Amino acid sequence: MTVSSVYPQHSYVKDGRFVIGGCDATQLALDHGTPAYVVAEDDLRARAREFAGGPARIVYASKAFPCTAALRVFAEEGLSVDVASGGELHLALQAGFDPADVVVHGNAKSLEELRLAAEAGVGLIVLDGSDAAKLTELGVRGQRCLVRVVPGVETDTHAGIMTGQESSKFGLTPAEAAALIADPPAAVDIVGLHFHLGSQLFTADPFTDAVQTLRQLGDFGVYDLGGGMAVGYTREDEPPEPGEWVVAITEIAHDAFGSDIELLLEPGRALVANAGVTLYSVTDVKRSFVAVDGGMSDNLRPMLYGARYEARLADRECVTSPGGPNLRGPEGETHRPGGPNLRGPEGETHYAVVGKHCESTDVLLSDVALPEPVVGDVLVTPATGAYGHAMANNYNGIPRPPVIFCKDGEARVVVRRETYEDLTARDC
Ligand code: LLP
Repeated sequence: MTVSSVYPQHSYVKDGRFVIGGCDATQLALDHGTPAYVVAEDDLRARAREFAGGPARIVYASKAFPCTAALRVFAEEGLSVDVASGGELHLALQAGFDPADVVVHGNAKSLEELRLAAEAGVGLIVLDGSDAAKLTELGVRGQRCLVRVVPGVETDTHAGIMTGQESSKFGLTPAEAAALIADPPAAVDIVGLHFHLGSQLFTADPFTDAVQTLRQLGDFGVYDLGGGMAVGYTREDEPPEPGEWVVAITEIAHDAFGSDIELLLEPGRALVANAGVTLYSVTDVKRSFVAVDGGMSDNLRPMLYGARYEARLADRECVTSPGGPNLRGPEGETHRPGGPNLRGPEGETHYAVVGKHCESTDVLLSDVALPEPVVGDVLVTPATGAYGHAMANNYNGIPRPPVIFCKDGEARVVVRRETYEDLTARDC
């Protein structure tokens, strides 16, 4: 049986058991413990190839999943990489990226980060704030750079992940960019322009207005139009296909700048989100709450952006589809967490899946239909490959989960689980 499109490609359910990368999820939980981030390696590669087959140079936004093993896969697949800090630069170089394929971002780069980038010989530094002056101070000469511009365009997404609007902290205003372009210091060789409009964008339409802002700044050889392609978190989402997205933006770019340009795109989540799932163990069930052994320490997205996910049990089928937003009970009312269990027409029950953290916002899914979960069950949340591991934290002293790659029935731990000793390892 196939699972919904938000799960990794080629994952499936056999005899009610969820299988990812050829590995039985319940067995993975037994072998490696929970919570655990599980990634289908072939899915990462397939998505890299879908993007890279098009007319743009694909620069993986590594903040989405800053995991050396994933970076290595993308380096092998010939992608370039976007790093937004000295730490991400370190990871990308460790993973084997050619420095020439590294694009350095950040609205608050330190002198030290710029020095590391210039010394490593990175391909492009994307100038924001006073970066050009900082590169001058470091004695750099002729570093290939793009200028990050605020295009002044709003997008239809959560305010927390919108970045192209006038009030954004990212980039130079068109006037500031024009001044830098007119009189650049010898430290920089400005070869092109950049913007990033925001994340979880379902259409390329806002790019049409945004490129007009860049056009007014002159003609360049390189345009980097950022990331942001939406992914499906629940089966209700209808995200674009990578190929369609690349073609749509390429057309917009070619219309504005001509076809004789190098176009860079920076997908982050679209390369990794649906390649990964999180496995949790159910630690308690009371009223309509299913409590699991993770929460806002391994997935902050529901709390920060109201992000909605699906879930299923790893070893048995739900009577109806495993959740999604706004599931309605038999009387048509939307179920509220904490209320009485609602039984659907076929016996499924609706629950809120909550984490183990000392905060009321620690709710991973506010409403999901599950088949009578009990303590010890393994719960799977799909589409957690992006910004889960990336934003994991130790709140409440919870060790961060491992990352496990699965391929052809073989599982390998690529990032080990943190230990309690790790929690005290930095104490002086
Ligand atoms: N390029 C630049 C310059 C960016 O700032 C970002 C994301 C991307 C590319 C990739 O965006 P993506 O394709 O992944 O949407 N923590 C938030 C996401 C913040 C993204 C920040 N920048 C989340 O969990 O949704």
